[in-house]
Amino acid sequence: MQKTVFALAFAATLAMAGQALAQQPIVIKFSHVVAPDTPKGKGAERFRELGEKYTAGKVKIEVYPNSQLYKDKEEVEALQLGAVQMLAPSLAKFGPLGAKEFEVFDLPFIFPDKAALHKITQGQIGKDLLAKLQPKGITGLAYWDNGFKIMSANRPLKTPDDMLGLKMRIQSSKVLEAQMKAFGAVPQVMAFSEVYQALQTGVVDGTENPPSNMFTQKMHEVQKNATLTNHGYLGYAVIVNKKFWDGLPADVRTGLEKAMAEATVYANDIAQKENDDALAAMKKSGKTDFYTPTAAERKAWLDAAKSVHKEMASRVGKELIDTIYKATAVTN
Ligand code: LMR
Repeated sequence: MQKTVFALAFAATLAMAGQALAQQPIVIKFSHVVAPDTPKGKGAERFRELGEKYTAGKVKIEVYPNSQLYKDKEEVEALQLGAVQMLAPSLAKFGPLGAKEFEVFDLPFIFPDKAALHKITQGQIGKDLLAKLQPKGITGLAYWDNGFKIMSANRPLKTPDDMLGLKMRIQSSKVLEAQMKAFGAVPQVMAFSEVYQALQTGVVDGTENPPSNMFTQKMHEVQKNATLTNHGYLGYAVIVNKKFWDGLPADVRTGLEKAMAEATVYANDIAQKENDDALAAMKKSGKTDFYTPTAAERKAWLDAAKSVHKEMASRVGKELIDTIYKATAVTN
C-alpha cells in the first residue's frame, strides 16, 4: 500500500516536472551596442513587447543594450555560436564577416536621401543581400534605419581640407577606411563602446556618427565641432541565428515575424525624429558648435568622396554600385 502511494506520488512529481519543463519559455537574447534611447534601442524594446505578446508567453525576449554582453564584432561571433539569438549590427559590420557587398552602404554620398536608400533596402537588392548571410549561419529579418552621419572633431571642419592628419574613429570597414583617407584623415578602427573615452583622452581626434549615437554616447561633451555633412548612411540589419530560427515551432516563428514586421515599421518611423531631437538637444547644450556647409563646401566633400566609389568598386561590386546609381538616379 505504502509502495503504491509512493509510486503515485513519484509519478505525479514527474508529470509536474515535465509540465514545468514544457512550459519553460524559449529565451531570445537580443544584444546591441547602442543606448536604449536610440532608434535601434527603441526598436528592440518594441520587438520585445510585441514578440512576447504574439507568442502568448511561449517566448521571453531579453534585450541587452550598450555593449553589456558583447562589443562590435564579438557580438556577431556570439550569434553564430548561439550565445545570443538576435542582433541588429550596423550594415558595415557584415563586411568583416566576408559579406563585402554590405559595405556598399558605407560609400559616402551614395544615397541622396532616405527615400533612395529605402528603394534598395526594401527592394530585391535588400533581399538578395540578406540571403548572402544564410551560409554564415545567419538569417536576416529586417532593415532598421538610424540616419545619416555627421563629422565631428575639435576643430571646425568646413571642407575635407580641414580633416588633414586628424585621427578619425571608424567602424571596421574598408570603405570607411578609404573614405577617411580620401578626406585626408587617418582612420582608426575601434569598437563603438570605446569611442567616448578615446575622444576624451585624445586617442582619436574625431569621429562620424548619426546625431542619435553622438548624443546618447555623450560624444558632444568631448567634441567641440561638428559639421552636418550627412555624408554617409548608418543603418542596421536585424539578424537571428539561423539554426535557432529554423528550429522554432511554426506558430512561434509566425508570431515573432509579425512582431518584427511591426517593430520595423515603428523603428523606421521614429528614426528621423530621434536624430532630429538628438541634434536639437546637443545644440541646446552648447558644448559642440554645429556647422552647415555652404553649397561650395558641400561640393568639396562630394568631390573628395567620388574617388572612394571607384576605388571600392572591385571590393563591393561594380554592378551593385551601378544598380544603386540607377535605382536612385544618381549620376557619379
Ligand atoms: C558604430 O559602431 O559607430 C555604430 O555601428 C554603432 C551602432 O550600432 O549604431
